Formats: sequence, C-alpha cells, structure tokens
Amino acid sequence: MPFDSASFVESAVREIQSKVNGQLALAACSGGVDSTVAAVLAKRAIGDKLRAVYIDDGFRRFKEPEETVKLLKSCGLDVETVDAREEFYAAVRGLRDAEEKRKAFRHTFYTVLGRVAKALGARFLVQGTIAPDVIETAGGVKTQHNVLAQVGVDPRAYGFEVIEPLRELYKPQVRALARYLGLPAEISEKMPFPGPGLLIRVLGEVTPEKVEIVRQATRIVEEETRALGAFQAFAALLEGKATGIKQGRRVYGYIVAIRVVDSAEALTATAREVPYPLLKRIARRIIEEVPGVARVVYDVTDKPPATIEYE
Ligand code: XMP
Repeated sequence: MPFDSASFVESAVREIQSKVNGQLALAACSGGVDSTVAAVLAKRAIGDKLRAVYIDDGFRRFKEPEETVKLLKSCGLDVETVDAREEFYAAVRGLRDAEEKRKAFRHTFYTVLGRVAKALGARFLVQGTIAPDVIETAGGVKTQHNVLAQVGVDPRAYGFEVIEPLRELYKPQVRALARYLGLPAEISEKMPFPGPGLLIRVLGEVTPEKVEIVRQATRIVEEETRALGAFQAFAALLEGKATGIKQGRRVYGYIVAIRVVDSAEALTATAREVPYPLLKRIARRIIEEVPGVARVVYDVTDKPPATIEYE
C-alpha cells in the first residue's frame, strides 16, 4: 500500500497531542530531514508549547550551525543554539574505540538535552528516530546516537520521556512527509549525516585539529560531488600517517578516504563508480587546500560487507 502522508500527519499530530497533554516539549533539531519533520509535526500538534534547540557539539560541517539555524527558522522552528563544543570534546578526549566514542557522544548529547529540558520545564523530548536507527542498533551493527531503550537506557534517567513520531518509517517516507509538509528542498532532499557528525569520521582518537581536517575535506567532497546526486558523499580521516612530497620535500601526513555511495534506505549501499578525472580533482584539491594531508584514497567497498560510515 503506498504511503499516505496526509493520514500519517493526522494521526501523528493526534498522538503527540495526547502524549504531551498541555505540557512543554523540547525538540532536538539537527537540520536533517528526520529531526526536522519530527519537530514540524510536534509544532503542528502543540504550537508554542514546543521549544526547539540545535546543539553545537563541535562535530558539525563547515558553516553548518549558522546555516542550519537559519534554515530551521524558515521552516517555522524558532531554534536556540546550545554551544556544547567543549563539553563534547572533553567527553571523547583520549577515546579510540568506535563504540566508546558513540557511547560518550550519546551520553553527553542526552545530558545536555536533559539540562536544557529541566531549565525550560519540558517533560518530553521529540526526536527524529527512524526504523533503520532502531534496526541497526538492535541488530548489533552499531549503537546509533539517538537510540536509548534498545541499548538498555531509560530516557527518564536524563529527565525526560521521548516522543518519536517517525520510529516506524524509512527515509523515503520521511522525505515524502517533508515534501507534503512544504519544507524546502534543502531539507526534504538533504543528504543524510550521522548524529555524531564528524566524530565518527575521524578514526581513532579525535582532536580539534583532526576534526578541522575532515571538515575541510568534507566541504571539498560535497562541493565536487553535488551533481552526482549520490545518497551520501563524504571524507573520513584514517588513522596513522603516510609519506608524501610537498614542494620537493618529504612530508609525513594524514590519509583521507573519500566515500560516495548509492542507497535507498541505508541498510545496504553500493560504492559509486565516480569518474576517475573527478576523483583526481578531489584528491588534488584536498592535498592543496587542507594542510597536513599527504594522501587521498577512494573507498570501493559496498554495504555489506562495510557500513556506510567508518565507525
Ligand atoms: P552505517 O554506517 O550504519 O550508516 O551504514 C547507515 C546510515 O545511518 C547514518 N548513521 C547515523 N545516523 N546517528 C544517526 O543519526 C548515528 O549514530 C548514525 N550512524 C550512522 C549513516 O550516515 C548512514 O546514512
């Protein structure tokens, strides 16, 4: 049966109203299609009983915080930015293991939200969890940042109850809802970006310097691959260093991996056959424009056996 956006909106709005029941709710917005649709549904349901925040964790892309807040305002969401960059960096300092990093991110994310909810007097947290987030976490692939009950955490420990209007939907349905709700294409067609952001695209220990390298490399990959219309295209920073030559001298620098994948719902994906001249151009730009990088490699692995992200 085709997905019916109108009746979904109607029942989601009713469900949110009956749960919130006149109290305040907080929406955690990242600017991605899932959390924006969830917040817009909540706004429809409870109007000015909804508060919305954007958490700047320090792992966002180039200029992303400013641009996202502007975009969300254009969707009718009056979002406040919470600058939690230092708290997040402190939480992941010294961690090398992917799951440890995810765990520290999740804990900090909900600690910050719990603090904001308490200050505002909000009892509910609206978030854009979708079915694949839960399936992959429950299936043991990885623990997504926004999944709590499935990893044995009671959200009430952070001081709120969660409302997840999209928990049974997949990406194409959420995009259909975004279009139905009249959200701009920058939201409805937006490329997925993981909740923990650039944190999980820096392998091993994360430092502000490494995040800045992957941020600049990501900007270049996104600029150069936009016309390909891929499901996701990004850069990741591998662990270790390799030898290169810059201005005739031997250098020892970082290795950046480029990943461009096609997918429908992120549960499987195919590495795109990116035209070789474009790959060479991206590699040249990264080496020239991002200090500290000595090599660029292209990842040809599908999902499975790989995952889309590196951690
Ligand atoms: P993987 O790497 O598991 O990714 O193949 C599948 C999809 O999920 C995104 N992803 C995340 N999204 N929180 C999110 O909101 C997370 O912790 C997370 N981890 C991965 C990933 O970008 C891809 O679209």
